[in-house]
Amino acid sequence: MVALDGPSGTGKTTVARKLAERLSAGYLDTGAMYRVVTLAVLRAGADIADPVAVAAVAADAVFTIGTTPVRPRVTLAGADVAAEIRGPEVNHAVSPVSAVPAVRELLVARQRRIIDAVLAEVGGIVVEGRDIGTVVTPDAPLKVFLTASPEIRAARRNAQDTAAGRDSTHADALESVGRRDRLDSSRAASPLRAAEDAVHLDTSELEIDQVLVALTELASHRGLLH
Ligand code: DC
Repeated sequence: MVALDGPSGTGKTTVARKLAERLSAGYLDTGAMYRVVTLAVLRAGADIADPVAVAAVAADAVFTIGTTPVRPRVTLAGADVAAEIRGPEVNHAVSPVSAVPAVRELLVARQRRIIDAVLAEVGGIVVEGRDIGTVVTPDAPLKVFLTASPEIRAARRNAQDTAAGRDSTHADALESVGRRDRLDSSRAASPLRAAEDAVHLDTSELEIDQVLVALTELASHRGLLH
């Protein structure tokens, strides 16, 4: 199994899915789980600043998350929400929701169950998030922490939003990247940080394929490439 952590805009999702395909492994996007719970909170009209209300919605939310690297499906109450969970409302609310300890407990437990099931079924999994190497699976044989400069990450986020047809400017993206970094790194429960034994990789100057080559090499050294 590979634990891939780091902030958004580092190419983490693209590279995690490609790496999973390369390793014939499953894939788990834990950020999508925090996003789908956030969407449930918004739909329920709960106050995102009220941890008790947020935790109650999270406990009742009925959602599924796909584990195939090609087009992983995400559903909430039976409907596909893959596009909606990337929208501006969820982007804005996801950091406070993911800072609620009860939400994290619930999702970490579910992540561990999914990882065990996929490992039993396909023998490998690439898991991406913020706390995979530190909290979810501290025993992962390969942990990687991806970074990139805020400028580059904002430019990537802006390009993604524009490609998806969402209104966005570089200044908006830079503000949003900085805001989420501050919230995700400063929260009390499982803040974003690298595991002590994680390999650090700065992707600022790298194309996705170069990142993929570096990760495939690391996976190969750890005996994860079949
Ligand atoms: O990777 P992403 O941008 O889809 O993540 C969305 C949010 O979820 C992000 O602001 C931080 C949070 N998150 C988290 O707290 N822990 C994880 N393992 C994954 C994501």
